[in-house]
Amino acid sequence: RRAASASSSSSKHLLRRSYSSDSKPERKVAVLGAAGGIGQPLALLMKLNPLVSSLSLYDIAGTPGVAADVSHINTRSQVAGYVGEEQLGQALEGADVVIIPAGVPRKPGMTRDDLFNINAGIVKSLCTAIAKYCPNALVNMISNPVNSTVPIAAEVFKKAGTYDEKKLFGVTTLDVVRAKTFYAGKAKVPVAEVNVPVVGGHAGITILPLFSQATPKSNLSDEDIKALTKRTQDGGTEVVEAKAGKGSATLSMAYAGAIFADACLKGLNGVPDVVECSFVQSSITELPFFASKVKLGKNGVEEVLGLGPLSDYEKQGLASLIPELKSSIEKGIKFANQ
Ligand code: NAI
Repeated sequence: RRAASASSSSSKHLLRRSYSSDSKPERKVAVLGAAGGIGQPLALLMKLNPLVSSLSLYDIAGTPGVAADVSHINTRSQVAGYVGEEQLGQALEGADVVIIPAGVPRKPGMTRDDLFNINAGIVKSLCTAIAKYCPNALVNMISNPVNSTVPIAAEVFKKAGTYDEKKLFGVTTLDVVRAKTFYAGKAKVPVAEVNVPVVGGHAGITILPLFSQATPKSNLSDEDIKALTKRTQDGGTEVVEAKAGKGSATLSMAYAGAIFADACLKGLNGVPDVVECSFVQSSITELPFFASKVKLGKNGVEEVLGLGPLSDYEKQGLASLIPELKSSIEKGIKFANQ
């Protein structure tokens, strides 16, 4: 008996080894803005991801230190730090996934749109480089206002002739992470089992969590649903105020960014049924970009999934978010073309 169990455990071990060394393709992930509040913990989390073979950390300052630090962790990926625009090309070359948390965060009293003037320019120049050095990469846009920076990226790629709508993603995962946490707390269900789609965009009322579709089901009152919706929409502001001038969500955002990038990598690697919410080019509403559940595959977006049945409250929320989201999208398009 002992011999049998020893051999079965060693064959399991062998299987695991052969899986980890043979079946995972080489994947390069680049993080732009890697020395920042989000960038650093995101670099750490991506270093822990066994799907990554090469981790490229780029910023305008501070990346050699972050890269040296993270590179000592004994996991699969090789880490390289790049600093300054003259190294951006090298940082991007051959990237499969580019994650962008570059730019300024909010301070108390600011909306995400107040960041537009600075971040729009940063995103435009980074996307110009992506079009040149890694036109086939999946782009995970974290820099705010996401409702405008994603359209900016699309316009930059269109001008460069590299736009592929299947490869551009606004990262709205933090809204989903928050909705799950807040729902689990209110409904008293195990948080690890919770699923809640969040659709629309990524700012204020454009964030529309669909608690009517949340699982496990619960009998929360209309009042509870309203409060949960509001808290999800204001989750970012809750953190901005608590940090009192020292920035916005960084740790929870890094977690959310790592979840989304992992989903992109799984999709690229052919793992079936990978679904996450994301702000993508879309035809499920009249708007050219919209966040909803998206199925990820070998080429990025495999399918943009529909909204599913909405409650009356959610229908109202959808109607009232459309004008604001429309104008944020148009603002991005206009900026990119001026
Ligand atoms: P941070 O100020 O701590 O870090 C930003 C980093 O970007 C800095 O290291 C800075 O040197 C770098 N950077 C600036 N210009 C750059 C350029 N041209 N190229 C490369 N790097 C550049 O800010 P934090 O807290 O990390 O936030 C970053 C962005 O993420 C902000 O725009 C913020 O609003 C956004 N954000 C998005 C969330 C989402 O759910 N999508 C959630 C939280 C924040």
